[in-house]
Amino acid sequence: MSSLNEILTEISSIRAEAQKEFQNAQNQIELSQIKAKYLGRQGSVTRLLKRLSELPPEERPQIGSAVNLLKDELNELYEKMELKIKKNAQLRALEQERIDITLPGRRQPYGRKHPLTQVTDEIKEIFQGMGFSIAEGPEVEYDYYNFEALNMPKNHPARDMQDTFYISEDIVLRTHTSPVQVRVMEAQKPPIRVIVPGKVYRHDSDITHSPMFHQVEGLLVDEKVTLGDLKGTLEVFVHKMFGKETRLRFRASFFPFTEPSAEVDISCMICKGNGCRVCSQTGWLEILGCGMVDPAVFKAVNYDSEKYTGFAFGMGVERIAMLKYGIDDIRLFFENDLRFLKQF
Ligand code: FA5
Ligand code: MG
Repeated sequence: MSSLNEILTEISSIRAEAQKEFQNAQNQIELSQIKAKYLGRQGSVTRLLKRLSELPPEERPQIGSAVNLLKDELNELYEKMELKIKKNAQLRALEQERIDITLPGRRQPYGRKHPLTQVTDEIKEIFQGMGFSIAEGPEVEYDYYNFEALNMPKNHPARDMQDTFYISEDIVLRTHTSPVQVRVMEAQKPPIRVIVPGKVYRHDSDITHSPMFHQVEGLLVDEKVTLGDLKGTLEVFVHKMFGKETRLRFRASFFPFTEPSAEVDISCMICKGNGCRVCSQTGWLEILGCGMVDPAVFKAVNYDSEKYTGFAFGMGVERIAMLKYGIDDIRLFFENDLRFLKQF
């Protein structure tokens, strides 16, 4: 059995040791461990209390109140330290998460429309201004719409004008947007006034030809439509697109689905008509094919060609963009080099 003094000495050494440990605690985990070590069920202070019963009754009150005092002190110290650790953690978090509101924001790089999309939009806008609406059709097309209904029966020599990608014997990648003329006329009666922007495909590749390129088809059908209407419409378009000073010429040509047919050239903007590699030294560049709708096409869609006449045209969007921006190689549109695309 320990003497009174021994126990009092033990109490003060536990106090000194516990105070030191509590004060050095770095975080909540350490603090809890220290609390368990002294105040927990197996803790040294708790064990002291249990030993009270071993003491002579007259010593119990003095030792008992000394141990209880220690217990209260340590509990208080624990709470104080817990608060301090929490505050420190908060301060540290605030320090680390500090927001510098003077820092400039991170800019989102923003994209822009591809030059071909920009030109297509511009073409659409010009024709919409003249009362045309927009129609669309499939890129994988029946031979019937791409050729036959356009007055190019199987084995017709004009099929060779367009190097066709075949999917199967009667299905092709459309070689032009003209099949949509037929689809539109099948679906509705005159008056018709549509343009058809879209992708087309041909086995064809050099600095002015691409295996995939874009066309915008135009079709106008009504009573008493004349070649003069066609010329007037295209002239308005060219002048709006390239400026009033741009020269255009109608060159007689041939398409099985128009009669008469013409190709429209505009003066080469790259060399100002002097001749360069883009215009093959001619000073002119072909931008579209056109003509009056051939009665054979009206027949395919059951239109009365005695009552109705119409004109159609099909232009190459890349060609127009090259002229407008002075680009001398069509492949630049499809390489997606940002240094090129950023200029538009
Ligand atoms: C046609 O495709 C006819 N469907 C146009 C047409 C429509 C005539 C309606 C009459 C009535 P062509 O094959 O010439 O015609 O092509 C039209 C335009 O597409 C050309 O003037 C040219 O600007 C462009 N083009 C043709 N082939 C390519 C190619 N490989 N790469 C880029 N542009 C091309
Ligand atoms: Mg041609």
